[in-house]
Amino acid sequence: MIEVQDVSLTYHGAGTSALSNVSLSVHPGESVAIAGASGSGKTTLLRLLNGLRLPSSGRVVVDEMDTANEKHVWEIRRRVGLIFQNPDNQLVSTTVEREIAFGMENLGLDRAEMRERISDVLSRLSLESLRDRPPHHLSGGEKQRVAVAAVLAMRPTYLLLDEPTSLLDALGRREVWSIIAGLAEDASCAVVHVTQFPEEIALATRVLVLDGGKLVFDGRPLDLFGAASDLRNWGLKRPPAMAIADELRANGITIPASVATLDELVLAVSRDESREGGV
Ligand SMILES: Nc1ncnc2c1ncn2[C@@H]1O[C@H](COP(=O)(O)OP(=O)(O)OP(=O)(O)O)[C@@H](O)[C@H]1O
Ligand SMILES: [Mg+2]
Repeated sequence: MIEVQDVSLTYHGAGTSALSNVSLSVHPGESVAIAGASGSGKTTLLRLLNGLRLPSSGRVVVDEMDTANEKHVWEIRRRVGLIFQNPDNQLVSTTVEREIAFGMENLGLDRAEMRERISDVLSRLSLESLRDRPPHHLSGGEKQRVAVAAVLAMRPTYLLLDEPTSLLDALGRREVWSIIAGLAEDASCAVVHVTQFPEEIALATRVLVLDGGKLVFDGRPLDLFGAASDLRNWGLKRPPAMAIADELRANGITIPASVATLDELVLAVSRDESREGGV
């Protein structure tokens, strides 16, 4: 479990706190989205979770290890993997295979174990055909998949992703998102994911909302999207599928309240049609 205990952080020279009195915990296997307007403190919170930043006050504890204790730094980095917004800031090697091996080299694994883990993540992320390619020649979505593979090869307990799809086109976004959704389902690793896309928030089991460095919501995505006036104040939008579902309901089509994504909407509409004996 990662515990954030009454944490505040003020950057050097800044007049206001980037985070104020934030408390929360993240459990293994959870799928958590972090949302909030630009500057609300999302990236700061992720960096606190793996000890890249230390709190000005309060504590962050990863599996009983305080991130402020220097002797735990490497173990915490291994357990808590971080994927940046721009994969170019993360990829350093000349081939995809070497990139995946790079992160593992500090773990003291033997060659056979490393080879096994490389094959495992190449197949899980559908990267086998790119194994010998230089990462910097790949598409944005492919690069982000390589960055995720390199972190997963270290077998983290928690995977943090900072807007990993925001620089990608729609196709790359779907590619990376389906991988994140698969990881969250697999439940061997908690996924904590900063995103500005309402449809991505809807797929998480829990969402945290930051506003001006304060944690203002911690609950289910459907409950968040039900709170329309707060949403606007926090710079968030409902998923388009929910607005379409409202229109359809107004026209007498039965759509369950849980529908938040386009896939779920299509399924609900086809069920309603089959009940009516339509197409
Ligand atoms: N290295 C830094 N030094 C000083 N201030 C910083 C630093 N990094 C962030 N800040 C400030 O801290 C606040 C929170 O920033 P943070 O990057 O965590 O927000 P964010 O929610 O990730 O924003 P965005 O959606 O734009 O990525 C902002 O006011 C920002 O200007
Ligand atoms: Mg950010």
